[in-house]
Amino acid sequence: MATSIPTSPELCAPRILSNPGAPYPPGPSLWSRLLTAKPLWQNPIDTLTENARRFGDLVHYHALDGHVFQFNHPALIQELLTENERRNRRVLIMQRARSFLGDGLLTSEEPLHMRQRRMAAPAFHRQRITAYADAIAHFAAEVTERWQPGVRDMHPEMLLIALRIVGKTLFDIDDEAEALAITEAFNSMRGAPPPPAWIPDSVLEALQKMPFGPMLRVRKGMERIDSIIYGMIAARRKSPGDRGDLLSMLLEATDPDSGGTSQEKMPDKLVRDECLTIILAGHETTANVLSFAMDVLARHPEVQEALHEEAVRVLGARRPQAADYSSLKYAYMVLAEVMRLFPTVWVIGRSAGPEPYDFHGFTIPPKAALLAPQIVVHRDPRFWDNPETFNPLRFAGENKRPRYAYFPFGGGSRQCIGEALAWMEGVFTLTTIARDWRLEPAPGAPARLPLQASINLRPKNGVPVCLIRR
Ligand code: HEM
Repeated sequence: MATSIPTSPELCAPRILSNPGAPYPPGPSLWSRLLTAKPLWQNPIDTLTENARRFGDLVHYHALDGHVFQFNHPALIQELLTENERRNRRVLIMQRARSFLGDGLLTSEEPLHMRQRRMAAPAFHRQRITAYADAIAHFAAEVTERWQPGVRDMHPEMLLIALRIVGKTLFDIDDEAEALAITEAFNSMRGAPPPPAWIPDSVLEALQKMPFGPMLRVRKGMERIDSIIYGMIAARRKSPGDRGDLLSMLLEATDPDSGGTSQEKMPDKLVRDECLTIILAGHETTANVLSFAMDVLARHPEVQEALHEEAVRVLGARRPQAADYSSLKYAYMVLAEVMRLFPTVWVIGRSAGPEPYDFHGFTIPPKAALLAPQIVVHRDPRFWDNPETFNPLRFAGENKRPRYAYFPFGGGSRQCIGEALAWMEGVFTLTTIARDWRLEPAPGAPARLPLQASINLRPKNGVPVCLIRR
C-alpha cells in the first residue's frame, strides 16, 4: 500500500514568504523567542516545527552569533545539500569538533574531504558490507541471547550491539572488554558538552588548555584513545594484510582519482581521524534508531507480529545471512518508518562560506547557519499522509515523494558513507529480536517516549520495555 503523495507542482512548490522591503525571509523575532522562553537549544523540535508552520519553507532569524536560515522544503534542501554545497562549509559545531576528531570525513573541508571520501569509499562498498553480515548477525544474537524475561532498558543493549559491530567491522575486535575499553576512552574524550557557538575560538582554546575540570578529562580520554588506535595502526603496519576490517582498507587505500599515478597511502594521523569519526558516526546513531524501534514495537503489537512472521518465514531458527537481506522487506520498512518519525540525525547544519550568495531573491550572508531539519520535513503532511501515524507500509510500492522529503542519511557529497552498513545492522538486529522475543510497554511507561535532541536525537530516559520470550 503506497501513500497518495501530492504530485501537483503547485502543492509541492516551496512556500517562500517575504515582507515588502525586508532583506530576509520572515521568522520569529528575538523578542518573541525570549518572551515565549523557547530558544532553539531548549526545545529544538517544537521550535523548528513551529517556525515552519508560521513562516513557511524558508525561515530566517538572528541568533546571538549571527544569522540562521531554516529550510523546510525538499526542493530547498536539495539546493542546500547539492547545488549550493560548494558555497557552504561544515556547521560550526563540526568545525569545533576538529579539536578531537581531527580531519575525518565529518569535520574536514574540501578538497581534503573529497580525497578522503574517495579513499574510504571502497571500505563501505556493498560487497564489503556483505562480508560483515555474519558479524552483525553474530553480535545481535550474542547480546540478545543473554537476556532474561522481564523489564529491561533497551538503550544500553542497543548501544552494546552497535559497539560490538563497530569494533568488529572497524578493528576486527572479538573481545567484549577490548571493545568496551575503546568506547570508555572515547566517551571520556567527548565527555564535555559542546561549547555554545557564541564562545569565541580564542576563549575556547584557553579553556581547552586548563589543567583541571572537564577539559582535563577530555585530554586524558584523548591520550588513551590515541594510544589504543595508534597502537593498532603500528601493529598492522608491522604485519600488513587484509584482516577483513575497515582499518585494513583504510591503511591500504590510495586515491583512485589519481589515475594510478599516486600510490600514496593515508598518513597515520588521517587513519586515526577516520577511525574516531567512524566510531562517533557509526555507533550511537544506529543504537538510537534501534532503541526507538524497540519502543515502537512495544507499542504496536500488530507491527511486531508481522515482523515475527517474516523472521520465522525467512530464517526459521537460524541466524540471518547476507543473502537474506533482500527478503526481509518488512523489517526494512519498519526501520525506514522509525527513521522517518525519529531521525537520529534530526537536523543537518551547514555554515555559509566567506562569500555571500543569492538564494530565491534573498542574500545568504557569510557564516550564516543553514539548517535542514529532518524532524520537520519527515512529518510534513504535504508529503506524508497522517504523518504522526506509525505505518511501515507507506514505504511499500513506488515512491513518488521528492528526494529530500526523506533524508535520514543526508545527501550530496556528504551523504552518510555507512548507510548500507546501518541498514543491514538495523534489519538483522530487528529481525533477530522480533523472532525470539515479544516486547510490551514497561509498567508505568509514559504515553510517548521522552526524547532528547542534542547532537543526535536519542531517548531521554532510556527505553524500558517488558521482554517476553517466544
Ligand atoms: C542509522 C544510522 C545512521 C544514520 C541515521 C546516519 C546519518 C548520517 C547523516 C545524516 C550524515 C550526513 C551528515 C551531514 O551531512 O552533515 C552522516 C554522515 C556520515 N556517517 Fe552516518 N549515519 C548512520 C550510521 C553510520 C554508520 C554505521 C557509519 C560508519 C560505520 C557512519 C559513518 C558516517 C560518516 C563517516 C559520515 C560523514 C560522511 C562525509 O561527510 O563524507 N554512519 N551519517
